Amino acid sequence: MLNAELSGYYHDEARYPAAMVNVTNHCNLSCRHCFIFRDGNPNQAPLSIRDEMSDDVMLMTLEKLRDRHGIKSMMWMGGEPMLRHKLLKKGIQLFESNTITTNGTIPLIDFGPDLLYVISLDGPEDLNDSIRGEGVFRKVMKNLEALPVDFQSPFQVQCVVTRSNQSRLEELVLRLVDSSVRWMTFTFLVPAADGETNPDAWHNNKEREEAVRIVMALKEKYPGFVRNSTRSLELMFSPYAERVTAACPSRANILPLYLEGDHFTTPYCCYGNDVDCERCGAWAVFQIAAKMERNGAVSW
Ligand SMILES: C[S@@+](CC[C@H](N)C(=O)[O-])C[C@H]1O[C@@H](n2cnc3c(N)ncnc32)[C@H](O)[C@@H]1O
Ligand code: SF4
Ligand code: SF4
Repeated sequence: MLNAELSGYYHDEARYPAAMVNVTNHCNLSCRHCFIFRDGNPNQAPLSIRDEMSDDVMLMTLEKLRDRHGIKSMMWMGGEPMLRHKLLKKGIQLFESNTITTNGTIPLIDFGPDLLYVISLDGPEDLNDSIRGEGVFRKVMKNLEALPVDFQSPFQVQCVVTRSNQSRLEELVLRLVDSSVRWMTFTFLVPAADGETNPDAWHNNKEREEAVRIVMALKEKYPGFVRNSTRSLELMFSPYAERVTAACPSRANILPLYLEGDHFTTPYCCYGNDVDCERCGAWAVFQIAAKMERNGAVSW
């Protein structure tokens, strides 16, 4: 038995080079912008993590999905995936490449040099904490600073750019650039379909352009530290952005596995069911789009 039901855009016969998996619907934070806990997404958490899909069933299911779809790369997410670090230790053995995206409040574990941690911070301390919770910035930095010098797993920071933090991104870069953080990526808000009322969301992609230019300037100033490619940022301008998101390359390449009771299910895309594609600013979407263009597969 396979504890996964693929539906909608996703198919049992399709090949997916990458997948993302929510290993738990529990989280110790409740961030303002979080797409996971939007209504209409599979995100129900039983009282205890112990009542979610067991480690053994989850590992067996992921192994079967890997073999059926040819999945090489796994992005471990949640909720907060480090709440299930024992599962992660075994899970990362199953895939050629692995990324754990974490809120960084739970101490990192050395999973060796091939595992990449992506740690979420959404601005300098005051702004980050207004989005992610009081004291979170300090807790994350304390955890990072406490890592031993021979800690092998590299870690990068990911910042969600919004209308609210776009003018203060360099403060975050300056705080991190000389620390043990290896790189930064900027991803842009993926608004809900009703995002017009969300103060963090730009009304349209034209309005977002100023924020994209700010990140481009940071890329120019800190080229080795900011990981977004310049072309991926250029593609966020109209009319390219709308063309890219209309043919979303992330949807075609990444299988999203959301936890629903005793099985995995597939929402509309990695960002769930309630998304406004046209204004999507997901890093992966534009990074893959730029790569496809480089390889001559498409011209946007
Ligand atoms: C949903 S979280 C799960 C992993 C972990 N709890 C964390 O916060 O890193 C994965 C990533 O999505 C980002 N994210 C959350 N809501 C978002 C949104 N509306 N648009 C774009 N990224 C978002 C988070 O900041 C985080 O970097
Ligand atoms: S820590 Fe991650 S999963 Fe939890 S609420 Fe924040 S963004 Fe969402
Ligand atoms: S919301 Fe973004 S990632 Fe999801 S399908 Fe639309 S463009 Fe792709």
